[in-house]
Amino acid sequence: MPDEPDHPCANTRAIVLAAGMGKRMKSKRPKVLHHLAGRPLIDYCITAAERATGRAPIVIIGHQADDVRAEIGERVIFAHQDQPLGTGHALMQAEAHAASAAQVLVTHGDVPLLRPETLRQLVALRERHGAAITMLTVIADDPRGFGRVIRDAQGERVRAIVEEVACAPAQLAIRELNVGAYCFDGAWVWDALKRIRPNPQKGEYFLTDLIEIAVADGREVRALTAEDRDECIGINTRIDLADAERALRRRINRQHMLNGVTIVDPETTYVEVSVEIGADTVILPNTHLIGRTRIGSDCRIGPNSYIVESYVGDRVQIVQSMIEHSRVEDDVHVGPFAHLRPGAHIGAGAHIGNFAEIKNSTLGAGSHMGHFSYLGDASVGEHVNIGAGTITCNFDGVKKHRTVIGDHAFIGSDTMLVAPVTVGKRARTGAGAVVTKDVPDATLAVGIPARAIRKLGDPPA
Ligand code: UD1
Ligand code: CA
Repeated sequence: MPDEPDHPCANTRAIVLAAGMGKRMKSKRPKVLHHLAGRPLIDYCITAAERATGRAPIVIIGHQADDVRAEIGERVIFAHQDQPLGTGHALMQAEAHAASAAQVLVTHGDVPLLRPETLRQLVALRERHGAAITMLTVIADDPRGFGRVIRDAQGERVRAIVEEVACAPAQLAIRELNVGAYCFDGAWVWDALKRIRPNPQKGEYFLTDLIEIAVADGREVRALTAEDRDECIGINTRIDLADAERALRRRINRQHMLNGVTIVDPETTYVEVSVEIGADTVILPNTHLIGRTRIGSDCRIGPNSYIVESYVGDRVQIVQSMIEHSRVEDDVHVGPFAHLRPGAHIGAGAHIGNFAEIKNSTLGAGSHMGHFSYLGDASVGEHVNIGAGTITCNFDGVKKHRTVIGDHAFIGSDTMLVAPVTVGKRARTGAGAVVTKDVPDATLAVGIPARAIRKLGDPPA
């Protein structure tokens, strides 16, 4: 993103640490590329850092760096950590890019739900007190591997962070945890980092040792305690990933509800971050809205529907159906049990019923396809009736061929349309017809193979 010079944190450079191994995920994929609500973890961290500071963050990469870099693209500045020698060592790699920043905001690439507002509070707190460090803490019953925050006897000043591996038994009981988000004084931090010694248990340079170094320097360390625990979920294992998914789901669904969408059961409604939904739409349970899907207003979607990367107009009803990479115009009814595969385009007011499958095809406005049918590679006009059991035989074993059906045509039940083939406007096929040759406009064709048996009169005016 371009720098925003008037941003309240324009003197701050954000750095996201994402070079670690992510061993506890037991995955071939780098941890920060695991998905939450359809986007990689690191994406959330980058967006929050960008919004907090008004400029592109520096991202520290190392483990499977090429994959991470390819996924993130050009929106950030990359710095490389050649060996995973700990969070402190990771931050050292940013010095060349960030040495001139008045302050440095550091987050972890595996703490994806932090809000930009919270990060901005950390920055503001540091500025207000001229502290060496402000850090985010959270009070939680389940410490799950987080560093413990050690305060002085009065419980006021933070003295240190002790990692779980190094905790004495009494320290393990501490419920104030280090979230992994800090704002550092830029004039102090780079030199202080050089004073970290490798940790005796793990041989790593712990960023958390900076707290004791600041205290020894007689500098102030301030903690900001997060009010929303969900914001602070850190992802080390797949259990954490599921917890974060649940928290994010709640956050996304609440936003849609505040925007005027009825979600009957938010716990079983799965809406990815990139989805848009219009007001007065009702989403029924076990509905998944995936990718860049856009649902209009006054729709009724679900239950049990799965809609991927699709456009859905206004006043559309979709019941127990699957829709992928398709476009559904206003006032359409779909389902139950229909499958729109990539490239389906359903015109306004059309109806698609049980066990209908449509792929790479247009079904014109007002057309009906009520029961057990397959349309593949077809262009179907407006106000067409597709009888039960109609099949476009689009594949001859080698190539796919197109079927064209004109406006107001009536396709009899169980018609086989052997493509390439055209059925004209207002033409009709008899039940069970196998259409191997084009049917002219306003003509009735019947039989196997279908023959034109008569012209049809003009429709009543
Ligand atoms: C770290 C903190 C801990 C805190 C927790 C919460 C330290 C020593 N511990 O522990 O106090 O409670 O986060 O989020 O900082 N990384 C690198 N290079 C490395 C190692 C890690 O870039 O060499 C990155 C990882 O990709 C990850 C982040 O730093 O995004 C945190 O690393 P991780 O190993 O998950 O640290 P925690 O054990 O969770
Ligand atoms: Ca972690």
